[in-house]
Amino acid sequence: MKGKIVLVTGANGGLGTYVTQAFLDSGATVIGTSRKIQQSDFSNPSFSAMPAEISTREGAKVLVDQVAARFGKLDVLVHTVGGFAGGQSIADTDDATFQRMFDLNLNSVFNILRATIPALRQTGDGRIIAIGSRAALEPGAGVGAYSASKAAMVSLIRTVALENKDAGLRANVILPGTMDTPANRKAIPNADVSKWVRPAAVANLITWLAGDSGKDINGAVIPVYGSDV
Ligand SMILES: NC(=O)c1ccc[n+]([C@@H]2O[C@H](COP(=O)([O-])OP(=O)(O)OC[C@H]3O[C@@H](n4cnc5c(N)ncnc54)[C@H](OP(=O)(O)O)[C@@H]3O)[C@@H](O)[C@H]2O)c1
Repeated sequence: MKGKIVLVTGANGGLGTYVTQAFLDSGATVIGTSRKIQQSDFSNPSFSAMPAEISTREGAKVLVDQVAARFGKLDVLVHTVGGFAGGQSIADTDDATFQRMFDLNLNSVFNILRATIPALRQTGDGRIIAIGSRAALEPGAGVGAYSASKAAMVSLIRTVALENKDAGLRANVILPGTMDTPANRKAIPNADVSKWVRPAAVANLITWLAGDSGKDINGAVIPVYGSDV
């Protein structure tokens, strides 16, 4: 990935940390973004931290303008920003929870897509890899707002794949099951973590899709459920 400019959203998150490190290891130049990202989060000269709030259109635009000014192009977008809320049936889901899930899981991807697609089209070989969730295809009781927001983002990514194939842009979405992240270990202390998806495995798949190997894959919705199939 030498010479490639990669933007990772949620770069300091449970998955984003692995994704950022995997791209740095592959020789890419990586711009990591989140609200609280810091330059000291990765000790690699090819890493640049650019804090941004991407649940607003303006926040995403300012970020991508900064990337263009500093690096002159964008080859890969990896969007990992997202979050979970559960425990309420649809009948009991309050407006604030529903809105938060859609801001975090749908509006953020909508905003970053609108901001980055023009630059990604320009490269002639751009890549978008977004992180959905197993719940996008398999809704469960009590997680309706989360599942609906992730299902909608899958639809957006597939649309982007169709709309931009003329420019060599590939857009795919990965649907992880529960991942072995520090936050999940804390939230579910007695779980059998061997059944959980390894974030490093998802990161490897993402770099594979972003490289020459992923050139023929477009509009794919890829489940990664670990041993819990
Ligand atoms: N963990 C799982 O088991 C699991 C399972 C299936 C799917 N997923 C999906 O996989 C993705 C990554 O999960 P994760 O566990 O790594 O999540 P995470 O640790 O909570 O990371 C979320 C990242 O998003 C950033 N972020 C949140 N709101 C933001 C905003 N408005 N603007 C900019 N950045 C924002 C956070 O950083 P700041 O706080 O610094 O902004 C953080 O870097 C998510 O989309 C999640 O829904 C996770």
